[in-house]
Amino acid sequence: MTTLEGAVVLVTGGQRGIGKAIVADLLDRGVAKVYATARDPKPSSDPRVVPLPLEITDQASIDALVAAVPDITVLVNNAGASSPDTYLDTPIEDVRAVFEANFFGPLNLTRALVPVIERNGGGHILNAHSALSWVALHGAYAATKAAFWLQTNAIRLELLNRGIGVTGLHMGYVDTDMVTAVTAPKSRPEDIAKQALDGIEAGAHEVLADDTARGAKAGLSQDLTATYPQLVN
Ligand SMILES: NC(=O)c1ccc[n+]([C@@H]2O[C@H](COP(=O)([O-])OP(=O)(O)OC[C@H]3O[C@@H](n4cnc5c(N)ncnc54)[C@H](OP(=O)(O)O)[C@@H]3O)[C@@H](O)[C@H]2O)c1
Repeated sequence: MTTLEGAVVLVTGGQRGIGKAIVADLLDRGVAKVYATARDPKPSSDPRVVPLPLEITDQASIDALVAAVPDITVLVNNAGASSPDTYLDTPIEDVRAVFEANFFGPLNLTRALVPVIERNGGGHILNAHSALSWVALHGAYAATKAAFWLQTNAIRLELLNRGIGVTGLHMGYVDTDMVTAVTAPKSRPEDIAKQALDGIEAGAHEVLADDTARGAKAGLSQDLTATYPQLVN
């Protein structure tokens, strides 16, 4: 179990969308400090928030970030990118790029920060996946989130008995810049943030933050036509 009160937390992509809501909720829970990254970070009015630059696809940027956060005990891998909606009509470089942002980027950061969290006495990692870890939609984006889900599950096992818990976060659409074009119902970032942080404090392996995530996971055990009704002829 990880208590967030008094903790030092790093939130990637912590200045917009769900990451920003996570930072706000962390402050409400009494964290000592929260490092909030952005590619072009803006100052914060709260002295406990330390804005730092991060381009998650750039190893030099990751290295600089790691050097700037020697006191963290909790890592929130929230930053993520969307992708074009198709596989067949998208340049392969664009498919690779979203894997760099959503799979290799957080992996590189986690690899660099696990020793730091261990040195600081242990802590927690939260990885932002999606309901689309379990449903093919929005092109390669869903594949990156499926791969990230399995990365999380594997790292949780590698970290067993090393004092670092790992929580995977799954949710359907959330009202942020990422999905402005989507008209389907969306959760509020604040509601997702609260459940995510409750999950860290409870030591949950997985947080299914809305009905879409719960339905997507349940669909895995059913015939494919349950998830993809368009396959029924
Ligand atoms: N919104 C949804 O419907 C939804 C649903 C399920 C899962 N998610 C996941 O939740 C997480 C947060 O998404 P959001 O909805 O808050 O999206 P958002 O509003 O578009 O914000 C994306 C965040 O990721 C950061 N980011 C993107 N590419 C980056 C890169 N190359 N290097 C460093 N940072 C980068 C952005 O930082 P900058 O400030 O530098 O741009 C921003 O903070 C993502 O992992 C997303 O896949 C979102």
